[in-house]
Amino acid sequence: MNENERIKQEKNPLDVWEDLVRYSKSGFESIDPDDFLRMRWYGLYQQKPNDGHFMLRIKVPSGDLSTEQLRTVADVTRLYARGITDITTRQNFQFHWLTIQDVPDILNRFAQVGISASGACGDIPRNVTGCPVAGIDPNEVFDARPEAEIIHQMFLDNREYSDLPRKFKTTVAGCGQHCSQPEINDIGATAVRRIRANGEVEEGFQIRVGGGLSARPFFAKRLNMFVPKDRLPSVFHAIVTIFRDHGNRENRKAARLKFLVNEWGIERFEEEVRSRLDWRPDFADDWPEPRKNFRDHVGIHAQKQEGLSWIGATVLSGRLNDSQVYEAARIADEFGGGNIRTTNQQNLIFPDIPNARVEAAAKALEAAGLQVNVSPIRRAAVACTGNEFCNLALTETKRLIVEIVEHVEGAVAINEPIRINLNGCPNSCGQHHIGDIGLQGCLVKQGPGKPPVDGYDISLGGRLGADSKFVRPIRRKVPATEVKHAIANLLNGYVEQREDEDDFADFVDRHSDDELATLMRVTFAEGVPTPVPAGIPVEV
Ligand code: HEM
Ligand code: SF4
Repeated sequence: MNENERIKQEKNPLDVWEDLVRYSKSGFESIDPDDFLRMRWYGLYQQKPNDGHFMLRIKVPSGDLSTEQLRTVADVTRLYARGITDITTRQNFQFHWLTIQDVPDILNRFAQVGISASGACGDIPRNVTGCPVAGIDPNEVFDARPEAEIIHQMFLDNREYSDLPRKFKTTVAGCGQHCSQPEINDIGATAVRRIRANGEVEEGFQIRVGGGLSARPFFAKRLNMFVPKDRLPSVFHAIVTIFRDHGNRENRKAARLKFLVNEWGIERFEEEVRSRLDWRPDFADDWPEPRKNFRDHVGIHAQKQEGLSWIGATVLSGRLNDSQVYEAARIADEFGGGNIRTTNQQNLIFPDIPNARVEAAAKALEAAGLQVNVSPIRRAAVACTGNEFCNLALTETKRLIVEIVEHVEGAVAINEPIRINLNGCPNSCGQHHIGDIGLQGCLVKQGPGKPPVDGYDISLGGRLGADSKFVRPIRRKVPATEVKHAIANLLNGYVEQREDEDDFADFVDRHSDDELATLMRVTFAEGVPTPVPAGIPVEV
């Protein structure tokens, strides 16, 4: 049994709430070291350098928030979090600089507006993500937020699921583009339709299991079943309990559901799911996969509701200050329907804006630094937390992504979305495995006596959808200061050499590692050995 298992067995982490309240009075020094782990179940992580500050993650199911909830996000950002908050790659918000004294007050404020942090971190089902334009997108299969909400409620504070071998990530979405990334979730439920024998159209879900990134990425595999809407909770229950009962509790590095699915094979896994159901699912149809690599909903788009549009605004690096959050809420109230959505590319969507007011709303957003007219590089860029706050980080990330995007925008004339995903270590919180350009932080040795500098392994060609691929490692240990030049050179090479049918992913597929590395024309810092293409094995 590993150390985390011992701590979970000694006390269910959900029971740490009362201790948390006690610690808020007795202070940081009084916290039992084992309780730091349990506090993750309430969204709290120690912040680097573990000197008394915490990071808090709150859950935003389907990325769907009211402006009242967003104002509470703004209040907490202003009052407790030194004025900054981050939108995450699972549609949540994170806050830093919190002290234990303030935690109960903060969580109570969120509870009053229906926001929970319970299950935001820890070995428990995490936020149920979804499509950020659910209910308004004319191309959606159907609005799956009601089913997502049922799953969210089923998971919330439920002790049946609160001691899993590892974290558990799910998505329930009706988006035809599969924007919520079912391929990299432990369970990905995507909306489908089928025609019944009597000719009726029936709506339901297709299910994928066992996807995930981290140091060993796997794409989820499809179960051969059609799941009617009202049966979805039973299938989620079956899958989570299989994981609970059979997942690896010895080795946390092999504990995620993806390892179990891989070990058993999808057929045996499906048999086990079916054996836990008290109904018999029909087999799946051959539902088509979306081919489009790029899946955000940023920009101005007509809604399915006549006369209304949504505006997707870009938040480069996902970081907002408190004034921007208040302003976002004000704009959503003044121009829209009092609702706002977060995206897994760390952006914001403002629904329900009357067409006649779209221009004025876009202007107000731009004035608040929430950019609407942006380059395709900017809107797609994603960065993880990095060494500013993360104990596991090797490198700085949030400032670097801004520097890279600004440089590339000036240096390359390109009108195609190129997704740059940047991480401060191999864990892939910023999803470098699926970026067009994936950057994984590392340290680059300098000459003797000199401290190492931040660097990045540059990999290319990741994508989801019909043609899912993880990135191919191309250049190792490029100093951080060189990365923006390497990317600009590469993209200029692409613009010059692309053929008519190419998008960037095709271009990467068509070129060898050496050819792509040559296009980057990296100049290396003194004392650094000439790198070779990494060849890091990536498991599919
Ligand atoms: C203190 C340490 C860590 C911090 C600050 C951190 C931060 C984050 C953040 C902000 C996200 C965004 C998604 C969300 O809201 O859930 C995330 C997601 C993710 N984290 Fe971490 N993380 C940490 C540790 C880890 C570790 C140890 C692993 C793997 C072993 C990991 C793997 C991932 C992956 C793969 C995602 C991808 C997003 C997704 O699943 O869609 N993280 N993390
Ligand atoms: S990818 Fe690594 S550095 Fe970035 S937040 Fe995750 S654990 Fe921290």
